[in-house]
Amino acid sequence: MYGEDGTESCTEAEKEAHGEAVRLEKISFGYEGGRQLFSDFDLTVPEGQCVAITGESGRGKSTLAKLLLGFYPMHSGRIEVEGCNSNICPISGLREKIAYVPQEPYLFGVSIAENIAYGKSSVHPEDVPMEEIIAAAKIANAHEFIQKLPEGYQTIPGERGNTLSGGERQRIAIARAVIRNAPIFLLDEATSALDNESERLVNDALNRACKGRTTLMIAHRESTIALADEVVAI
Ligand SMILES: Nc1ncnc2c1ncn2[C@@H]1O[C@H](COP(=O)(O)OP(=O)(O)O)[C@@H](O)[C@H]1O
Ligand SMILES: [Mg+2]
Repeated sequence: MYGEDGTESCTEAEKEAHGEAVRLEKISFGYEGGRQLFSDFDLTVPEGQCVAITGESGRGKSTLAKLLLGFYPMHSGRIEVEGCNSNICPISGLREKIAYVPQEPYLFGVSIAENIAYGKSSVHPEDVPMEEIIAAAKIANAHEFIQKLPEGYQTIPGERGNTLSGGERQRIAIARAVIRNAPIFLLDEATSALDNESERLVNDALNRACKGRTTLMIAHRESTIALADEVVAI
């Protein structure tokens, strides 16, 4: 879709018409000095769909997520997120549309409430209403365990005596992504390092968090892959 001045443009109506929330077109990439990870790779995720991305370790799944976020420049190709084209839009414009849960989520040395509020990058964490934080935690299946902590939402994770489990940290990271309320949800191996009970709780959180959202879910556990509408192996 090109405007009169030759630049690409996309109105809200056009976006709905093609219904593709994420499109990777002929992307090629390899790290400097490393092997080629992607050559003319294509991927389309229709709006509201959940696509699971699978593949052996080292294939480039996490790299794919980082390319979407513009952490590395591609050798060639283009990425379109919600009508925002990587060749034209600033990286910040694309990134703004994505809520990302990295493979190893990082928790800051501040309260759990603030750790969740951080997801709303446009608002100072202290200005995010508590109701919003709790609502996100509920979707992420985190509210119950947070409430049971000695200082509840004011608990600072990682302090001696209240170290959180992998699954609990994962669910805080999911709440952080949920509160962002971005159109695209990007999750990297959210259940890879969890025991069975945590896996169940995180899968349940993912299932709720992905509802009505365009989701790219890098996953290798069968139970997580099963949540997806489509599976793409790379
Ligand atoms: N920052 C980096 N610099 C150089 N090589 C990297 C970097 N990150 C990952 N790699 C390499 O790129 C390949 C793909 O890594 P990654 O995307 O993490 O794979 P996956 O998530 O599928 O396990 C691996 O061989 C890895 O060692
Ligand atoms: Mg990875």
